[in-house]
Amino acid sequence: MANRLIGKRILITGAAQGIGLAIAKACIGEGARLFLVDRDAALLKDTADALRADGAKLGSMTADITDAGAISTAVKRAGDEIGSLNALINNAGVNVFAEPLKSSDEDWDRCFDVNVRGAWNCCKAVLPGMIEQGGGAILNIASTHAFTIIPHTFPYPLAKHALLGLTKSLGIEYASKNIRVNALAPGYVLTQKATEYWNSFPDPKAAEAETMKLHPAGRIATADEIAMAAVFMISDECRFMNAACLTVDGGLSVQQHQ
Ligand SMILES: NC(=O)c1ccc[n+]([C@@H]2O[C@H](COP(=O)([O-])OP(=O)(O)OC[C@H]3O[C@@H](n4cnc5c(N)ncnc54)[C@H](O)[C@@H]3O)[C@@H](O)[C@H]2O)c1
Repeated sequence: MANRLIGKRILITGAAQGIGLAIAKACIGEGARLFLVDRDAALLKDTADALRADGAKLGSMTADITDAGAISTAVKRAGDEIGSLNALINNAGVNVFAEPLKSSDEDWDRCFDVNVRGAWNCCKAVLPGMIEQGGGAILNIASTHAFTIIPHTFPYPLAKHALLGLTKSLGIEYASKNIRVNALAPGYVLTQKATEYWNSFPDPKAAEAETMKLHPAGRIATADEIAMAAVFMISDECRFMNAACLTVDGGLSVQQHQ
């Protein structure tokens, strides 16, 4: 399919790699105009240059989503470069994993600053424009950690639970303004983040095999498989979904035992 996102002007955070990049490519393929944000300047430049070389017309800006001023500037620049935003994909996030009693106050702050406050900073920056133009769609990339717990991953699941709360709260608050706010909850996805997680174990290969074995289908998702769900959720095909969360985990979070 193509052209499912014609007329969409989307800001995507954390778009330089991984799931964010896969979503960006899928949105370009469906005719959206994009403005990409990432805090990694070099990676974002390489990514944006490569997408432009493939013919994409897009804007980009290095910004940390924890910096509300920088995000406000990014949204203004997006308006100038691709037109007033009518969609936001809050994808940037960080893993902060520890056993609760070994987790520091700094871990807590970093986790909540990026995964919750950062997403809120972006919502806060785009909502006035969406209200003014009569509607919009926001998609928060949550995780199955938003409703299930894996030991020793504290406080990441708390932050993803809060992101789900933000999704519901804003979805209800602005439904009457024709703004939809939804969450997408991937399980394990093959990205740099997943590799780093396996590398944190003494035997990374065994940890990877263990992860695959946990899954009903014997494998984890590709970033493209998450991206196709994101395209649907941001498109008008999905126009009556609001304050909801779509799980894309191959059934992992439903399975009680193997
Ligand atoms: N990979 C998985 O298995 C998985 C599973 C479930 C949910 N998720 C969620 O999906 C999202 C993307 O994950 P990924 O695996 O693609 O991650 P990734 O680490 O591969 O990419 C994340 C990108 O976000 C950027 N970023 C991080 N903090 C930022 C900040 N403060 N400001 C701006 N940019 C920032 C990074 O520079 C990076 O380019 C995250 O929210 C993550 O929690 C990932």
